[in-house]
Order: sequence, then C-alpha cells, then structure tokens
Amino acid sequence: MKNILFVSSEAVPFIKTGGLADVVGSLPRYINKNEFDVRVILPKYACMDKSFLPDLKFKCHFYVDLNWRKQYAGILETQYKGITFYFVDNEFYFAGASPYNNIYEDVEKFAYFSKAVLCALPFLEYHPDVIHCNDWQTGLLPVFLHTSFGSDPFYSGIKTVFSIHNMKFQGRWRIREVMDITGLPKQIFNSNELEAYGEANYLKGGIVYADAVTTVSPTYAHDITTPEGGEGLDGLMFARRNVLSGIINGLDYEEYNPLTDPYIDYHFSERDAVEGKRLNKKKFQENAQIAVDENALLIGIVSRLTDQKGFDLVAYVMDEMLSTMNVQLAVLGTGESRYENMFHYFQNKYPDKVYAHIGYSEENAHQIYASCDAFLMPSLFEPCGLSQLISMRYGTVPIVRETGGLKDTVEPYNEYTQTGTGFSFRNYNAHDMLHVIRYAKQVFDNDGQSWKGIMERGMDMNFSWNASAGKYEELYNHLTE
Ligand code: ADP
Ligand code: GLC
Repeated sequence: MKNILFVSSEAVPFIKTGGLADVVGSLPRYINKNEFDVRVILPKYACMDKSFLPDLKFKCHFYVDLNWRKQYAGILETQYKGITFYFVDNEFYFAGASPYNNIYEDVEKFAYFSKAVLCALPFLEYHPDVIHCNDWQTGLLPVFLHTSFGSDPFYSGIKTVFSIHNMKFQGRWRIREVMDITGLPKQIFNSNELEAYGEANYLKGGIVYADAVTTVSPTYAHDITTPEGGEGLDGLMFARRNVLSGIINGLDYEEYNPLTDPYIDYHFSERDAVEGKRLNKKKFQENAQIAVDENALLIGIVSRLTDQKGFDLVAYVMDEMLSTMNVQLAVLGTGESRYENMFHYFQNKYPDKVYAHIGYSEENAHQIYASCDAFLMPSLFEPCGLSQLISMRYGTVPIVRETGGLKDTVEPYNEYTQTGTGFSFRNYNAHDMLHVIRYAKQVFDNDGQSWKGIMERGMDMNFSWNASAGKYEELYNHLTE
C-alpha cells in the first residue's frame, strides 16, 4: 500500500472558491483503494462550512517554527465518503472571511500551512510516500522538505508532485519579507530557485523543487511553456518539460448527475433530456422573472467574474447581442466589481432577458447547468475548466474559446459530419464570439434534430475521473518505484 497525501487550500465539501476544490474533493475517492491510501490535508478556515465542525476530532497539537516565530498548530481529523481529511487549525492565520485575503497576509499564512503539514506528519501515524501539492499556496512545501527537513531521515525518500491549476496566481512577494517569514536560507532566493523578477515566488519554488509537475490539461501543459501562456515562467516550464505532464480533470459524477441532483426540479437522463430540460428551463425562467419563452436561447454563465474568463468580450457585445437576438443570459458569479456592475446594468436594461445573481450558490449553479440551452465560457486562458464538463453532463451545449482544457474537451460542431459537442471560436475577439453565438442560435432555431445530436453527444462523453485517476496512479507508481 502506498500513501498519498493531498495538500490543498480548498476542497469540496468543506470550502470552495473554484475548480481546485472540486478536484481535490473528488479525485482522491477515485484512486484505487487497493493500492493507495489517499488522504487530504486542508487549513481549518473560520469560513469553512460549519455543518462539518461537530465531526472534526482533535488529533494532536504542536508548534511550528517560522524563523523567529513559534506558531500553534492543531490537527483535526474527519472521514468524508471514505477519505480521511485532516485540518490544520490556527485561529490567527485562518480567521478571514474567505480563504484568500491580501497577498501579504496570504504569503505568511500559506508558508505556515506548508510547514505545518510537514511538521504534522510524525503525529499522524501515516507516513506519505508521495505528497501531492496544489497551486502556489503549497509551493513552499517541497522547498521546506528539501531544506529545513532535508537532513531528517523521517522525511528523506518522500516524493512530491506539484499540480498547477492556474499559472496566473504565483504567490509573489518581497524577498526580504519572505526570508523573514520562512527562515529559508538566503542562498535559495536566486533565479534558479525561489526568485523570479526580483521577488520571491512560491509557485516557482514548487515547480523547481517537486519531483514531478502536472497541470490539468494537455493543451495547457503546452501553453505554459510558451510566452503567451507562461505568465512569465515559460522559460522555467520549458526547462522542466521532462517532468511536466497534463492530466485532464474529471468530474464527480455523483455530485453532478441530472438524474439524482437534489437541487433541480425535474430529473432527466440522456433519454428524456429534451423534455427534462424544457421543464427546468420553464421553471427557471419563472423563478428568475425573465420572459417565459421556449424559443429564447437561454445561455448560462457560472463563474468567477475575472479577466481570465473572458468577460471583457461579453461586455463588448452585450448590447448588440441582446438587442438583435432572442437570447437570454443567466449569470451566477462573483469577482471583479466592474463585471458585477456590468451584469447588473444589463439586467436593469433588459429585464426580460438577463438574470444576474451576484453571489455564490451551489443550488443556483446546478439549476443553471440543468435549465440552460447553452453555456458560455469565452476564457482568455483556461487550465482545464470544469463548468463546460458539468454543462455537457446536463445536456447544455458549451460555447467556448479554443484554449487550454476547453480545447481539449469541447469538440466543435460540424454540420456536414454531424459531429461535435459544442461551439467554439479561436481568436480572443468579441465579434468572433458573437458570430459563433449567432451560429449556435441558428442551429437551435432551425435544426432541432442537430441541436439534440450535439446535446446527446455531450451527455455521452465520459468526463468521470476513471481515466485520469489512472494517470495519477501511474505517476505515483513511477515516483516510488
Ligand atoms: P475556476 O476553477 O477557474 O473557477 P472551473 O470551471 O474549473 O473554473 O471551476 C469552477 C467551479 O466553481 C465550478 O464547479 C463552478 O460551477 C463553480 N462556481 C463558480 N462560480 C460559482 C458561483 N458563483 N456559485 C456557485 N458555484 C460557482
Ligand atoms: C483552476 C483553473 C480551472 C481548473 C481548476 C481545477 O481554477 O482556472 O481551469 O479547472 O483550477 O483544476
């Protein structure tokens, strides 16, 4: 039996801000239990889902040295769907209203978290063969492992995997302060290790020090080795390409299942998807107080409202789209205020056509996935993207830009061969996007049979974890041979 410890700053069902939580909350359950004992360790945030608090059992406590600081760490433990989850408790670091606050607080918080995880291991009666780190928040873990813990035999032989879910967020801060926070030796803040562009860079630390680096789709694995996608670290990624692989994310098929989804009004499968979705759409239009109109193409958006997701393209053509086509938009998201305001503005301007819920709601998200005809994701870049996978699972036709995981998972509709699972455009251009939305609307209006074909092929795709979990197993085996 090999022990794999996932380290992450979020995981479903305890705390979620985006797809990372979906991945860490589901992938461990799909790794072969006969060969691997997979566990997960997370921060115990004050803002985590409180309904789990009574289940958390105290396991141990100790103190973590961070240079001149000595910080308390408690470890709590619970089981969820057969997986052991540990939580690092520290009320000073994890008190914020959301997992991530200001970068200067976060760099100290996650340096602490990474070191606390390593300090916890001797107390867990669980010695990991592989520590699987995720995103910049855990980037210092492989660094600490090889420096602060480098000479301790308990830690030697532990391998690390570092998964990049988003290259844009790197955890960058002033070298002097990161040296003070971490106590890491001065000599590793050089351009081959922790330093990038004059700053300390946690993501870089993870990439340099981990034994294997993965990202969440093959296309993104390539994109980050190029200046267009590398967010300044393309040279490093290119140099590390021999340990870099792209493994596409899967979905939790139990959580996202239109036949059993507790949040939706009418359940359906591929067999009765057209009727099931018609009923959900009608109910949604009523609840959302937009026009109850079968012929309107109802387009969903469930997203962090950031530049990454391509909302500047949407803003640019909203008026043109809404004033010239019978389309409706159902938007759920939070993020940058200019996009929140933009959707509010259009909701006021086109109350029959736009529903905008600025906030976070699991229930509303599932209803949008189930009720909409199409789902829009014109991302500037997209490491994998789960929303388009969820959409296809619910018979909702994705309209995406061909980048990263969107390119790897959505096959463009071809009217001649009657193949494809969605609509896509290549250039990051608002009118190219509008053009493809018009085309989708045309197929929706005039060729119901073809539209149904696109829906069915999407629902037929297998985006469960089974295939990708096998690739992680291979990687763990390879590292521990
Ligand atoms: P990212 O991780 O970049 O945000 P993904 O497509 O990988 O994008 O994953 C986003 C996940 O977060 C999906 O499960 C999506 O449904 C969910 N999500 C995003 N915004 C919201 C929101 N406002 N309310 C509920 N769920 C949301
Ligand atoms: C990131 C990416 C998204 C990916 C998710 C899970 O948040 O933006 O594309 O699906 O991580 O890997």
